[in-house]
Amino acid sequence: MGGPRRATVSAMDVLAIAHPLAKARLTTMRAATTDSAAFRAALHELTVMLIYEALREAPVRTERIHTPVARTDGYWLANPPLLVPVLRAGLGMADQAHKLIPDAQMGFVGMVRDEQTLQPTPYMESLPANLSGRPVFVLDPMLATGGSMAHTIRLLTERGATDVTAICALAAPEGIEYLRGFGLPVRLVTASVDERLNDSGFIVPGLGDAGDRQYGTV
Ligand code: PRP
Repeated sequence: MGGPRRATVSAMDVLAIAHPLAKARLTTMRAATTDSAAFRAALHELTVMLIYEALREAPVRTERIHTPVARTDGYWLANPPLLVPVLRAGLGMADQAHKLIPDAQMGFVGMVRDEQTLQPTPYMESLPANLSGRPVFVLDPMLATGGSMAHTIRLLTERGATDVTAICALAAPEGIEYLRGFGLPVRLVTASVDERLNDSGFIVPGLGDAGDRQYGTV
């Protein structure tokens, strides 16, 4: 069976983007002095980098095109992913992802984590009924305990999805281990795997609450 093998899905691929520009945007997001407008702008730009890397090995279809000078091969994404921002915080990634992949469809999942129990409470879902054969990108700035992401991925796998990518600005090791424990068909693309979760379920060093930092506390 020679040749290198990628990690199996059950072991969960984790791609941590170490690019200096990604680190710089994440630094802006981490800093407590960054206001909401600057936080949103940094998240927008980081999303472009994360999506760019997430699609690096995506299959393309080719078609001959004419330039003003000659014929050549043109390239398009063969199977654009369904984009699924997790409300609220994932909304801050949706437009930028859509700009990069204009022919992508978009679904939505609404979820809020109970601050005491840390359990996710779903409040809306709008997803295509059949996701078999369709790649899905879940957009959420933060993977903390992993509860929200696990719930979202289950909604997707119930609809037949087998190729899910979680696009997160940052992640906690505990959340990655939680997802690994379920053997869910997901890989993670992130700008950082941080140190840990604190007793309140916040990522350390983290950036606080990505929803509150973008939109204010509700
Ligand atoms: C945050 C974040 C994730 C979730 C991560 O959302 O955007 O959705 O928590 O936590 P978990 O991995 O422990 O489940 P939050 O519940 O604060 O809602 P919001 O996006 O409306 O602010």
